[in-house]
Amino acid sequence: MITFKGVTKVYERQGEKVKAVDNVNMTVEKGEICVLIGPSGCGKTTLLRMVNRLVQITDGTIEIGGTEINSLDSIKLRRSIGYVIQQNGLFPNMTIEENINVVPKMIGWDAEKMKSRYKELMEMMGLNHEEYRKRFPWELSGGQQQRIGVARAMAADPPVMLMDEPFGALDPVIREHLQNEFLRIQKDMKKTVLFVSHDIDEAIRLGDKIAIFNRGHLMQFGTPDDILSNPKNDFIRDFIGSDREIKRLSLLTVKDLLKKVAKLGRVKGNTQEYSGDVVMLETDLRTALSVLLSSPTGEALVVDQNNDPYGILSFSDFQTLTGVHPSKLQTIVR
Ligand SMILES: Nc1ncnc2c1ncn2[C@@H]1O[C@H](COP(=O)(O)OP(=O)(O)OP(=O)(O)O)[C@@H](O)[C@H]1O
Ligand SMILES: [Mg+2]
Repeated sequence: MITFKGVTKVYERQGEKVKAVDNVNMTVEKGEICVLIGPSGCGKTTLLRMVNRLVQITDGTIEIGGTEINSLDSIKLRRSIGYVIQQNGLFPNMTIEENINVVPKMIGWDAEKMKSRYKELMEMMGLNHEEYRKRFPWELSGGQQQRIGVARAMAADPPVMLMDEPFGALDPVIREHLQNEFLRIQKDMKKTVLFVSHDIDEAIRLGDKIAIFNRGHLMQFGTPDDILSNPKNDFIRDFIGSDREIKRLSLLTVKDLLKKVAKLGRVKGNTQEYSGDVVMLETDLRTALSVLLSSPTGEALVVDQNNDPYGILSFSDFQTLTGVHPSKLQTIVR
């Protein structure tokens, strides 16, 4: 768990004071991904670098697992935190294997252990360990370099990871691929992650929590669903975009919807004779809505994982959930 209490950073630049982070209070739970997002210059990198003490806090405290970071030795602290630097920051004069083993080497792992960890990480990243071992960073594509940056930060298996736009500057397809890989890895690793992003779709996809900043202030903190369904003010509304209802739908499944409209529980009736379109309980709502839109009756049969009929899904259920009239839902999807 990482706790920020009244965290403030004031930089001094030629006698001028710049408040880069202003009285931030928030708690990131153990094992969660919290995405920090906001316009350029709003203080994301500064906040991240205060956690591993590369930037000194002006006011307030940061605690990791209940221990104030200022009471710890800064070198030890940094070794217990994986850090993926904005623009990956691989050492150009080191091979890929050397880059990945920087921290394990510092903390005195033996050669055998480093070798097997290198192999394991490369496998995790979907890269051939033999092929890349002796290569240098400039011999890799942007996407491959970013993967090595992530692998390097994870090398000594730190419980906390700070990731500063690790998938920035990549084309959308590779980006989505790396996001999915990262989620898959995180499922087992359960690290506590602070993840900086510029991209609200990335934040929604990856974040257990999202923290939106503007000019050093934390404007809103919550789950993606909280933020999409209850944006606190105009800044947040503008920031997440006008298609927030649709973005929110992709977070929820048919099962969530049936739960929310209190229709969960097997519906008895004539589902056996139903001949229209079919959706699964686990189908996301964005997909389910497209199915309804193309269904002549405006309804679909819901089936469980055994393909047994479960109930009927209709437009009015969507309306109950989103408060948006079906005719508007149609225009949103298109
Ligand atoms: N070392 C420094 N000295 C003085 N001012 C700084 C320093 N580092 C950052 N700043 C200022 O602090 C503010 C926050 O910068 P920061 O790099 O944290 O923003 P950011 O949200 O990471 O931006 P970006 O999205 O562009 O990476 C900016 O106004 C920046 O100019
Ligand atoms: Mg930054």
